[in-house]
Amino acid sequence: MSAPGYGGQPIIILKEGTERSRGSDARNANIQAARIVAEAVKSSLGPKGMDKMLVDSFGDVTITNDGATMLKEMDIQHPAAKMMAEVSKTQDDEVGDGTTSVVVLTGELLGKAVELMDKKIHPTVVIDGYRDAQNNAIKFLDDIAIKVDSKDKIVLKKVAMTSMASKLVAGYSDYIADLAVDAILQVAEGRDGGYDADLDMIKLEKKPGGAITETKLLRGLVIDKEVVHSDMPKLVKEAKIGLLDAAMEIEKTEFTAKIHIESPDEMQAYLDQEEQMLRDMVKKVKDVGANVLFCQKGIDDMIQHFLARKGILAARRLKKSDMEALAKATDAKVVSSIDELSEDDLGYASTVEEHKISDDKMIFVEGCKNPKAVSILIRGGTERIVDEAERSLHDALSVIRDVVLEPRIVAGGGAPEIEVARRLRRYAEGLAGRKRLAVSAFAEALEVIPTTLAENAGMDPIDAISEMQSRHENGELWVGLNSFEGKVSDMAELDVYEPVQVKAQAIKSATEASTMLLKIDDVIASSKMRPPAGGPPGGGGMPGGMPGGMPGGMPPM
Ligand SMILES: Nc1ncnc2c1ncn2[C@@H]1O[C@H](COP(=O)(O)OP(=O)(O)OP(=O)(O)O)[C@@H](O)[C@H]1O
Ligand SMILES: [Mg+2]
Repeated sequence: MSAPGYGGQPIIILKEGTERSRGSDARNANIQAARIVAEAVKSSLGPKGMDKMLVDSFGDVTITNDGATMLKEMDIQHPAAKMMAEVSKTQDDEVGDGTTSVVVLTGELLGKAVELMDKKIHPTVVIDGYRDAQNNAIKFLDDIAIKVDSKDKIVLKKVAMTSMASKLVAGYSDYIADLAVDAILQVAEGRDGGYDADLDMIKLEKKPGGAITETKLLRGLVIDKEVVHSDMPKLVKEAKIGLLDAAMEIEKTEFTAKIHIESPDEMQAYLDQEEQMLRDMVKKVKDVGANVLFCQKGIDDMIQHFLARKGILAARRLKKSDMEALAKATDAKVVSSIDELSEDDLGYASTVEEHKISDDKMIFVEGCKNPKAVSILIRGGTERIVDEAERSLHDALSVIRDVVLEPRIVAGGGAPEIEVARRLRRYAEGLAGRKRLAVSAFAEALEVIPTTLAENAGMDPIDAISEMQSRHENGELWVGLNSFEGKVSDMAELDVYEPVQVKAQAIKSATEASTMLLKIDDVIASSKMRPPAGGPPGGGGMPGGMPGGMPGGMPPM
């Protein structure tokens, strides 16, 4: 970049190859890119939404309906489009569901903003109007939300089933929702007068094969490893568990050493001593009272044999995360050497047992000292199904947690969006000037959710929206789009409920992202080119600008 400088000489500020666009060009390019992303995910919204098949550069295939996953797997380049992926991820991190809705809503807010700007309304006015509309929308949502009991299993199940309605596992949502509710209630704990549930306490383990209905909840942990030696017990009751994060073998010297052996007797003595050392290690394990040993590294063959003889169940090469989960669940301490192991370091579980799951063996650690440790073993026909089942389960667990944390819900199917839009329009009527247009535009943008649900269900969106609007005018608060029957119905009667948090977060994030993009009027992108060989990097553009510029500087923009 350069500007007219002293004596008409350009002043070069940015590196060669830097691309810059300004004003409405910059804004429009960003908006365009973001809207393309929104269009791409739109078709997957709602129970009748489609799934996407994504193939990465290694040829790995992901089939999903989850907004955040789609955008994560797509190799997005454009910075504004990347922001859409981030919005979706934020939604996922904060509330775990609504990751498609938030992107669709952001796209629509931007679309409406373009219409306003085409009418010569300045972006700052749009931004102010949107922010005001957002605050009011959240307030209206709060007004209509239904208060429920944090631990009402029936409500929690309904919310979980709604979140799964749009997923591949929808056919089994009844079964999985029960399981998810039990899991969350198991880990929920009282906090600040309410409840909270830590999703990290629920370990999801996948094993392709079997049917989705063989997915099970375990009060304990599943470790995807087998018992290391065939003579070891396959079931240990009243387990005392030792956790070791080092290899169980004789330590090798760090330097090369030679041992001279001159007679067969010495050879024998050497081997005997080595065996004795191995036996001592096993004796130590036995003496402290452990009957189960989990090792993060390898276990020497001979040691396996001795452990088996002592009736100790052992597994090797556990993942670090499994070791940590075991420590937390069984109240054990991970030690780095067998010498350090003491009775106090052992954890407890009422049973440790190896089970055969399809062709594989897995170890179930149940009845742990910490009752808050639970796992869900996900089954399903193929790897892709199991993967998508895991994502759907994540959504279900998240929405249940959301309600446990903040026990307020709204009905789904676009009903809250229609109602909030209606109230926003009424609010806008009291405003003066251009801001009023921005608030009304915001209201209209919210209706993209029911509109898209209608489109995806093969209905005429204009008819559906006008029917919903008029019934809302008549006080039918929860009238929304019944995707399954392709008509407008009371969604509360259909038990389609969602956490208010999911809706509120989507509105907040979408407003934030769209206003952020609207505020940008200058895009300066550095060159991805390599610096020319031999010359100084960037070809002479210097920070601060050099009067006169240098050969190779960019032509004036
Ligand atoms: N039975 C139903 N009838 C009509 N709409 C429904 C029904 N169940 C869920 N919905 C609606 O579908 C929308 C959610 O769709 P979907 O789960 O595909 O996207 P998302 O939640 O925004 O994103 P994701 O689940 O990918 O994170 C919500 O507006 C919800 O109210
Ligand atoms: Mg969803």
